[in-house]
Amino acid sequence: MSFHSMWAELLPVGRSSASGGYRRFAWTGADAECRAWFEDQARTRGLACETDRNGNQWAWLGDPAAGDAVVTGSHLDSVPDGGAFDGPLGVVSAFAALDELRRRGARFARPLAIVNFGDEEGARFGLACVGSRLTAGALTVEDAHRLTDGDGITLPEAMEAAGYDPEAIGPDPERLARVGAYVELHVEQGRALDLTGDAVGVASAIWPHGRWRFDFRGEANHAGTTRLADRSDPMMSYAETVLAARREAELAGAVATFGKIAVEPNGVNAIPSLVRGWLDSRAADQHSLDTVVTGIEKAAREYAAAHGVDLDVVRESFTPVVEFDHALRDELARVLGKDTGLTVPVLGTGAGHDAGILSARVPTAMLFVRNPTGVSHSPAESAAEDDCVAGVLALADVLEGLACT
Ligand code: GLV
Ligand code: MN
Ligand code: MN
Repeated sequence: MSFHSMWAELLPVGRSSASGGYRRFAWTGADAECRAWFEDQARTRGLACETDRNGNQWAWLGDPAAGDAVVTGSHLDSVPDGGAFDGPLGVVSAFAALDELRRRGARFARPLAIVNFGDEEGARFGLACVGSRLTAGALTVEDAHRLTDGDGITLPEAMEAAGYDPEAIGPDPERLARVGAYVELHVEQGRALDLTGDAVGVASAIWPHGRWRFDFRGEANHAGTTRLADRSDPMMSYAETVLAARREAELAGAVATFGKIAVEPNGVNAIPSLVRGWLDSRAADQHSLDTVVTGIEKAAREYAAAHGVDLDVVRESFTPVVEFDHALRDELARVLGKDTGLTVPVLGTGAGHDAGILSARVPTAMLFVRNPTGVSHSPAESAAEDDCVAGVLALADVLEGLACT
């Protein structure tokens, strides 16, 4: 099956006709359809497909027990109204790259696996990379069992409803010990490749990043009869905090975003009792990130006090800086530049990936495919088909270099 037809087959799954974006959230029907698609692709190619204890899917060519496997893939879930490419491009390209290697008559010296990591975006339960974090031992079973979605459904309940055993989740060192290298291809989530004029680049590092929950608690009251001076309005301190986040991020050369908010009681004619806002902040280095988040929290506490509002700040997740394996990264750059003699761009990114989680345990590298607008986490995310095909050939070259004789 060609890249084009695989892409076309996956395209309608979980797509909202209202927004044109994707709603492929963990353990929902759309997620199940994506998983069925993955199994089907594995079966078509004669690969042995298994789902691990944490819900990640693996399609194996060769004997996993032989060890030192070369693994490639990405994720199929999405953010709310996400684009088509973030995640699926890596999975579809992995199958297409295997097809290309078979066309070339490649002889495999190491086992090869294609992986679909579960719940990468954390759109439903608020924590990103749940599948890879659990497998790598970077998330405890107790913490995973406490994850709850916006409707109060816990992760174990959601897994059980989807037919999976939540009691089985946990670290999987035996599985990781079989992996000799992980290479994830991903659409670029910025315009660096567009600016250099290259279809494909190699990742150098992932910025440290995290998510913080800000709970501003005030007093619910009547919007028409409560004098301004008598209000404890948490929306005011929240709004001022959003502006402070922007200011602090600009000062530190970082980014800070309040992209999700919950308001109680959420009535048009009621002063809120609670405004809960989630901050996502990222920076090129730990010191800058600490400076931004400390500055935002300090400002938020001042605004809250000024409005008679209580504030709790909870760090919900954190991923330290990731430096991808230098030897593997240099090998990728060498393989990709070999025919042209050109230097392949090596880029850092502010986006999180399963590759970043795995890099603590396994030599890991990433390839990026040009995104002409840089837009991502939006239905407008795009990549030209020619660039996607260039990505497939680049991934095939890399896998051939790593796994074939
Ligand atoms: C995942 O795409 C993230 O960077 O939040
Ligand atoms: Mn994403
Ligand atoms: Mn992604």
